[in-house]
Amino acid sequence: MMFKAYLSIFTHAIALLLCPLTLATNHSDHLALLAIKSAITLDPQNVFDSWNVSLHYCQWQGVICGRRHPRVTELDLRSRGIVGPLSPHIGNLSFLRVIWLGNNTFKGAIPPQLGNLFRLEKLYLMNNSFDGEVPASLSNRT
Ligand SMILES: *[C@@H]1O[C@H](CO)[C@@H](O)[C@H](O)[C@H]1NC(C)=O
Ligand SMILES: *[C@@H]1O[C@H](CO)[C@@H](O)[C@H](O)[C@H]1NC(C)=O
Ligand SMILES: *[C@@H]1O[C@H](CO)[C@@H](O)[C@H](O)[C@H]1NC(C)=O
Ligand SMILES: *[C@@H]1O[C@H](CO)[C@@H](O)[C@H](O)[C@H]1NC(C)=O
Ligand SMILES: *[C@@H]1O[C@H](CO)[C@@H](O)[C@H](O)[C@H]1NC(C)=O
Repeated sequence: MMFKAYLSIFTHAIALLLCPLTLATNHSDHLALLAIKSAITLDPQNVFDSWNVSLHYCQWQGVICGRRHPRVTELDLRSRGIVGPLSPHIGNLSFLRVIWLGNNTFKGAIPPQLGNLFRLEKLYLMNNSFDGEVPASLSNRT
């Protein structure tokens, strides 16, 4: 009896320890990050190697989640030598507040889908190779 009780406390302690590994997953955040990764053509610092199945996406390099929910609140990929387009799927990371992409070679259009991110407070895109203009969906924001 006593032993069983100890065992149960022990298993609960283990479960608590493993808690960060069993974070809930938001399917749409997960898909959006994978789409961002798959658009990248060059990643000289291998940032995206950590964006793999053995880690929860909240533990991927440059991905910061909220404290209470496994939702991406910040993306920090600045100064990583990254080359490639920025996937429009970024507009599905609906809890994003801050995006740091400065000092890379992001190309192509700035996705108008960024305008969907109504929680977005800061967007740092300087020193990249984006074409065209800042989409109206963003420049209209106050
Ligand atoms: C994931 O996020 C989407 C968009 O915010 C939301 O509609 C959906 O309910 C979330 N799923 C879970 C399991 O939290
Ligand atoms: C996932 O990324 C982590 C951190 O970079 C690394 O230690 C681990 O080996 C990677 N796993 C796979 C399956 O690539
Ligand atoms: C995410 O965004 C893309 C492009 O903006 C869209 O096609 C897709 O249906 C969206 N939703 C999910 C859950 O991936
Ligand atoms: C970009 O690089 C310059 C020169 O190394 C540095 O001064 C600046 O802080 C960097 N900006 C960002 C957003 O990383
Ligand atoms: C722009 O980024 C490159 C790296 O991509 C860096 O070497 C350069 O110093 C940066 N320039 C400025 C003005 O920040």
